[in-house]
Amino acid sequence: MNILVTGGLGFIGSHTVVELLSAGHTPIIVDNLVNSKLEVLNRIQKITGVRPAFTELDVADEAALDKVFEKQPIDAVIHFAGLKAVGESVGKPLEYYSNNLCSTLTLLRCMKKHGTKNLIFSSSATVYGVPPSLPIKEEFPLGETTNPYGTSKAMIERILTDFSKANPDFNIALLRYFNPIGAHASGELGEDPNGIPNNLMPYITQVAVGRRDHLTVFGDDYETPDGTCVRDYIHVVDLAIGHVMTLKKLMENPGLVIYNLGTGKGSSVFEVLAAFEKGTGVKIPYVVGPRRAGDLPFLYANCDKAYKELGYKATRTVEDACRDAYAFQKKNPNGIQ
Ligand code: NAD
Ligand code: UFG
Repeated sequence: MNILVTGGLGFIGSHTVVELLSAGHTPIIVDNLVNSKLEVLNRIQKITGVRPAFTELDVADEAALDKVFEKQPIDAVIHFAGLKAVGESVGKPLEYYSNNLCSTLTLLRCMKKHGTKNLIFSSSATVYGVPPSLPIKEEFPLGETTNPYGTSKAMIERILTDFSKANPDFNIALLRYFNPIGAHASGELGEDPNGIPNNLMPYITQVAVGRRDHLTVFGDDYETPDGTCVRDYIHVVDLAIGHVMTLKKLMENPGLVIYNLGTGKGSSVFEVLAAFEKGTGVKIPYVVGPRRAGDLPFLYANCDKAYKELGYKATRTVEDACRDAYAFQKKNPNGIQ
């Protein structure tokens, strides 16, 4: 199938493009390079032997996006394009709402116009807010989001839900990712944040290659077994495979579906550091600092629904992800250039 991948040169998008190709699909990438590099296209070609079609555009630019739809029939869209830095979104709410919402609205208009009726949207566990219990199930209500990024995801989920009611012939999957980490096993693709990483794994790998001195663990006084926060870390390749499996489901005309994509297993920050040392032999120096505002002690998924309905189960471990993320960082000490 021809699959339009918005944000396809980004971290999760690029890994998904590789898995789409290996499943026999034809990905067509659009990206405005606001948080990625054109070099990623060369890397995809190096891994797969195929150079997918790519157009540099802003998904909110309707005329430009329209041309991509006109060029060839598109069977489905995977919509990764969006701004995603939680902290940055607090200082730049207009940019976040404008980019994330307008790109989605434009995409929906183009899909409707061109009769493309299958859509996968990148949502986030952040839409649950403070969950009523653990593990987190899809039927839990949407919670209170605490930053414009998270709110933009919750708003888009609502827009897509309304759109689905008005357009019952559309098939839409909201995929709520937990914590994607890791890299492609080749070391060619991985996470390449601008500036100081906000997220745990890229920070750890930058310490591991000597770009940063030490990690600051944000609090060790939580009511968790070792005092540090627990998250559900999913290998980005497993996450990418989840999208390919969701595509199959969409072809059964399910209307709107929601899946958690995680592992169902929580790991604390200290457990991630131990897995990193075990997987790579590198001990990460750290200091314990104060808690980071907004962090919840526990977040992990119940993944039964994705298993039952998609046959999906993440198979890679946190240790695998640490090894792959480190290999990527070693091969690309200053990120993808
Ligand atoms: P990323 O920043 O690496 O990838 C996003 C890509 O979209 C980038 O290549 C960027 O250049 C592009 N982009 C942004 N706005 C665009 C626009 N208007 N038009 C065209 N291209 C645009 O991020 P990622 O980690 O790969 O995340 C992909 C999606 O998954 C995002 O929507 C993100 O919010 C969501 N998500 C990510 C995480 C995570 O922890 N990485 C967790 C939950 C959800
Ligand atoms: N952490 C540290 N030190 C750091 C960075 C992170 O101790 O330098 C800790 C955090 O306190 C947290 C854990 O590592 O306990 C994971 O933090 P991340 O920033 O990697 O991930 P979050 O769980 O905070 O956020 C992720 C995504 C968001 C998404 C959220 C949804 O990055 O996009 O999950 O739950 F909104």
